[in-house]
Amino acid sequence: MSNENYKGEGVMNIAVFASGKGSNFSAIIKAVKKGSIKASLSLLITDNPKAGALGRAKRAGVKIAMVKREDFSDKKEFEEKIMWHLKESKIDLIVLAGFMRLLGQGLTQQYKNRILNIHPALLPAFKGTQAIKDAFDYGSKVTGVTVHFVDEKMDHGPIILQKHIVIEDKDTPSSLEDKIHKIEHKLYPEAIRLYVEGKLEVQGRRVVIIN
Ligand code: GAR
Repeated sequence: MSNENYKGEGVMNIAVFASGKGSNFSAIIKAVKKGSIKASLSLLITDNPKAGALGRAKRAGVKIAMVKREDFSDKKEFEEKIMWHLKESKIDLIVLAGFMRLLGQGLTQQYKNRILNIHPALLPAFKGTQAIKDAFDYGSKVTGVTVHFVDEKMDHGPIILQKHIVIEDKDTPSSLEDKIHKIEHKLYPEAIRLYVEGKLEVQGRRVVIIN
């Protein structure tokens, strides 16, 4: 299947960054394929040769750029290479989907308000890479999912969408993770659709959804 299949009305070029399994990437592929996100899924950037996202990109015909941190002497050079790929594919929007690295100022400034991230907790609670486990271990009764713009600080930029879920007594870390992923796979495509349709207006820390 060629990347041509993923063109909507031929406007925005999206790059997804993923380090892991890629279930969110898969949900995004489906939404683009269905036409609910009218954009071109032009590039997958990964830093991990074992990422599940790689197989998903191959099956969907999405171009892959493998950029490994250990191939560069510093973070600046690593990110310059990423930016080179973004320019080559004329990327308009970056979607972080389980990309487990903090982006530097070079990228966040160049793509200000053009980078989205999904986080498996209700920010600003439980920042970091273990948010589902952290919320569970803390004994929270409520947690959820946040989609936000990315700035130079970790899990910090203006919030686009959030959805909560109740942590029930019968939940385990694994049942909670399943519930969180189900929410993510709906919430992220929805946030991307709003962005692509020009319906998000950033006013300081507040993101207003325009109808
Ligand atoms: C998702 O749960 C995402 O929210 C989380 O990584 C997972 C990736 O899963 N991201 C973070 O924790 C970012 N701080 P996936 O590879 O199956 O999409």
